Amino acid sequence: MSDTPLSGRVALVTGASSGIGRACALRLAAAGARVLVNYYGDRQSAAEVVDQIEGAGGSAVAHQADVGDERQVEAMFERCREDVGPLDILVANAGIQKDSDLITMSVDDWDAVLSTNLRGQFLCARAAARGFCSRKNKSDGRASGNIIFMSSVHDRIPWAGRSNYSAAKGGTLMLMKSLAQELGPEKIRVNAVSPGAIMTDINRDAWEDEDGRQELLKLIPYGRVGEPDDIARAVQWLASDESDYVHGHALYVDGGMMLYPSFREGG
Ligand code: NAI
Ligand code: BGC
Repeated sequence: MSDTPLSGRVALVTGASSGIGRACALRLAAAGARVLVNYYGDRQSAAEVVDQIEGAGGSAVAHQADVGDERQVEAMFERCREDVGPLDILVANAGIQKDSDLITMSVDDWDAVLSTNLRGQFLCARAAARGFCSRKNKSDGRASGNIIFMSSVHDRIPWAGRSNYSAAKGGTLMLMKSLAQELGPEKIRVNAVSPGAIMTDINRDAWEDEDGRQELLKLIPYGRVGEPDDIARAVQWLASDESDYVHGHALYVDGGMMLYPSFREGG
């Protein structure tokens, strides 16, 4: 693959001021895309992502928006059109956890997770698809738009104490597949990346101290906790023409977490 397989493309990455989203923004920019770096609260970190992209010769714009808010999402896509260019690639990455067992889970914590992790995916996918559909079909045969959802191994693996999160991710998986079926004829590609345990702020408690890390490693046959760039490389591939015939697929990037490692010595 060339060093700049996304040259001339425009990408929008949600939740891009930290973790996996940040790594995706940097990767896509390094691959030649101009990037809208969406952030929620951390303006300084988003500015640093933009600086890093520009310092490497790329092009990026930071934009604050809550992905669960329809008006803010519409304004963000408008800003992207005006200041970055017509969108080619959406990476719907923003997500949160608010862990609690069912008995004590508040409606606020349920709603917050569903709003960011599922409603946000819907709002961003809808805005992206409207833009893709309004553009003339390209004659070069490649996709006229590309949507990549950030899902999770918990779109398949149940997760006690986080039913809001796993319900949202299970919803993301079926949103992705239903939209792939719906939008394929428009030549809009739709896929998901479903990460395993990746070292970011969202799961810092699980990997920061050595005991926690050893517990986590029991769930990962490949024997290491993932890094944001493990996911960003998969996203770059899905965003590129190299994966042009991959459609409606969830790519599990998880060091084997989906392999039921507890059955290695049991069953
Ligand atoms: P993170 O906490 O570093 O990133 C989440 C980002 O989403 C933050 O930048 C945050 O500001 C942003 N965000 C939160 N609410 C938002 C809102 N309403 N509107 C816009 N942005 C908002 O954590 P990480 O790990 O980078 O998470 C990114 C995605 O990856 C999430 O969807 C998460 O569920 C998913 N994921 C993470 C895994 C991991 O092990 N780190 C594994 C599987 C999935
Ligand atoms: C969660 C992380 C967790 C990982 C593997 C992700 O979806 O956000 O907290 O470490 O799944 O269980």
